[in-house]
Amino acid sequence: MEQDRAELQRQREYIGKMKELLREEEILLGRKETYHIETFGCQMNAKDSEKFAGILEEIGYLPTEEETEADLVLYNTCTVRENANEKLYGHLGQVHSSKRKKNPNQRIALCGCMMQEPDEVATVRTKYRFVNLVFGTHNIFKLAELLYRMKTEPNPVIDVWEGTDEIVEDLPAVRKYSFKSGVNIMYGCNNFCSYCIVPYVRGRERSREAADILEEIRSLASSGVKEVMLLGQNVNSYGKTLAEPVSFSELLKSVAAVPGIERIRFMTSHPKDLGDDLIDVIAKEPKICRHFHLPLQSGSDRILKVMNRHYTKERFLDLVRKLRERVPGISITTDIIVGFPGETEEDFEETMDTVRKARFESAFTFIYSKRTGTPAAKMPDQVPEDVVKERFDRLLKLVRQIGEEESGKLKGRTEDVLVEEVNKQDPGMVTGRLSDNTVVHFPGNESLIGEIVPVLLKETRGFYYLGEEVKPE
Ligand code: SAH
Ligand code: SF4
Ligand code: F3S
Repeated sequence: MEQDRAELQRQREYIGKMKELLREEEILLGRKETYHIETFGCQMNAKDSEKFAGILEEIGYLPTEEETEADLVLYNTCTVRENANEKLYGHLGQVHSSKRKKNPNQRIALCGCMMQEPDEVATVRTKYRFVNLVFGTHNIFKLAELLYRMKTEPNPVIDVWEGTDEIVEDLPAVRKYSFKSGVNIMYGCNNFCSYCIVPYVRGRERSREAADILEEIRSLASSGVKEVMLLGQNVNSYGKTLAEPVSFSELLKSVAAVPGIERIRFMTSHPKDLGDDLIDVIAKEPKICRHFHLPLQSGSDRILKVMNRHYTKERFLDLVRKLRERVPGISITTDIIVGFPGETEEDFEETMDTVRKARFESAFTFIYSKRTGTPAAKMPDQVPEDVVKERFDRLLKLVRQIGEEESGKLKGRTEDVLVEEVNKQDPGMVTGRLSDNTVVHFPGNESLIGEIVPVLLKETRGFYYLGEEVKPE
């Protein structure tokens, strides 16, 4: 869009201004300035942080692992559960004491989901006055301009937007891995699950044009990317609101046709919008990885209804059955919340029963966390802490037991592994992932990083395999 292009141009100008400003500061300091980004939360935030890193490095900042010493520390926050918020305040406490002692030049910036909450911004303004810059999730493309203001204005800069229709892309990004990359296909969420803060902090659902997504993926492929992870809070509803609607399964087919792309993953699917067309595409297209993350949240129809999830236990189990039937070897993982308001022992047993029947390869289990502003926060019968804890432990035990029973199924077979890194414990080994996302370690060196190699899966150890590369004769 015209307007987006003008904004992009404006931000490029600010990148230029910041470059000059930094060069002048560096002469005074006698060294290059450094940045450190601390990322909390999900893949969306991880992806945003890569964009921040791209802009910062373009400006001239050098990356550093030293959070307490960096000239610029950027906290990309999450607020999905209370403990995410607590984590941020922990970091701020630490960095505050070092700010004065270690590096008086240090600047602190906060962004991301938590900053979309006015109460949190108020707390930062009153209790954490050393923070220099606050912005939210809707104006991340403005980073260079905001930094410029932070450097040139006397007061802390606070710029949080309530929402946006703008999608500004094409600013520089630094990828954490050379061979795999996340790709945003949509922003925001319209589902308003009654416990969840995400729709409030990420705004309304907006899909990117398929042509733009494909262009980005072609460009990633030409720079050596083999695996893409398509990102959205509800990828199954991708494209419905575009001027020319495109379905998620159609998008997947087009992505699979991009030369150089060998593996496709996506995150996250909502069971209510998972249609047969998607299962068909996965079954037919070997480049789509054999891993499906399908959040259950609860197995009780009554709770699912109050959660505003729009499916039942039976429908969920049907989907699992269909996926396993049509896509042999698929691994299915999930998210489950324990202790949603009003959850009774019977409701919880329904969740346990669903886990027993679905036999998830693994599951993330969460204790319900009350988020101010969501409908669930006002619901009666919040479950007592000790009851939730006891249920949580029971669920975790079951999830682990089933995960263990399901692991190791591929032992003795030769499967493709995308090598990600040299093994952290043993430099003679490398670590990578199978299509179904299981971790594999095998002897090798860094020349294999980013390569897809056939590996004989010789042994299974808990949730991973030990293998050996199968070299061509
Ligand atoms: N869009 C994704 C998930 C986003 S949040 C989806 O619909 O699945 C990731 C997970 O955090 C959710 O699946 C849910 O299990 C958990 N979660 C979200 N809000 C929560 C809350 N208030 N308390 C506990 N867990 C929560
Ligand atoms: Fe939250 Fe539900 Fe949207 Fe996922 S689909 S982000 S759980 S509101
Ligand atoms: Fe957290 Fe925001 Fe993701 S609240 S889970 S970082 S969308």
